[in-house]
Amino acid sequence: MKFSTSNYMALATIATCALAAPVIYDTNSTAELMSPLSQEVLGWSHATFPAIYQTCNETNTRMLNAAFKDTAEVTAYGKSRLLNYGIDDAYYKRWFGNGSIFTVMGVFDQLMEASKGSMLMRCDDADGLCAANPNYYAGHHRESAPAETVICDYFYNSKTAFNYLL
Ligand SMILES: *[C@@H]1O[C@H](CO)[C@@H](O)[C@H](O)[C@H]1NC(C)=O
Ligand SMILES: *[C@@H]1O[C@H](CO)[C@@H](O)[C@H](O)[C@H]1NC(C)=O
Ligand SMILES: *[C@@H]1O[C@H](CO)[C@@H](O)[C@H](O)[C@H]1NC(C)=O
Repeated sequence: MKFSTSNYMALATIATCALAAPVIYDTNSTAELMSPLSQEVLGWSHATFPAIYQTCNETNTRMLNAAFKDTAEVTAYGKSRLLNYGIDDAYYKRWFGNGSIFTVMGVFDQLMEASKGSMLMRCDDADGLCAANPNYYAGHHRESAPAETVICDYFYNSKTAFNYLL
């Protein structure tokens, strides 16, 4: 996974990896994956999600939606865990050290509820970086278009995007 550390998605992914059980995609449950993402995701009253570009085929789109849904559930859990255990939580110490709990909470809020107006996930290897880093890049941000995230095939193939960082 080569997401830039300044990116909220990556930050929160790391954060939530620390706080939640690994996510395993159940690609069998097509109906579940295809159900449209609701604004009313468990634990979040105003969840927003990035747009998925047309270069993502149906399979990719289903998996990305599933990943967003997982992120929503996992960040909701992470947030409630922070509220209940605060900075004395062993996981918190492991991942954030002396970091401010307000920063971490802010990242969760930002990730789930901030406007994703120009954020775009695309599935074509527009910069050739996926091909150049097979079995390593699950995705990357485009330097030429900072709002865009390229999702590499490795993301789908590994199916471990979330617990990869553990
Ligand atoms: C997925 O489908 C296969 C074949 O139908 C089945 O054996 C397996 O148990 C299913 N997995 C889940 C998690 O439902
Ligand atoms: C969708 O694209 C992926 C590559 O990103 C490919 O492996 C898969 O076979 C495609 N699925 C369909 C239904 O075209
Ligand atoms: C965290 O705070 C403790 C006590 O204030 C200090 O001893 C420790 O060096 C700090 N750790 C980091 C990584 O800043």
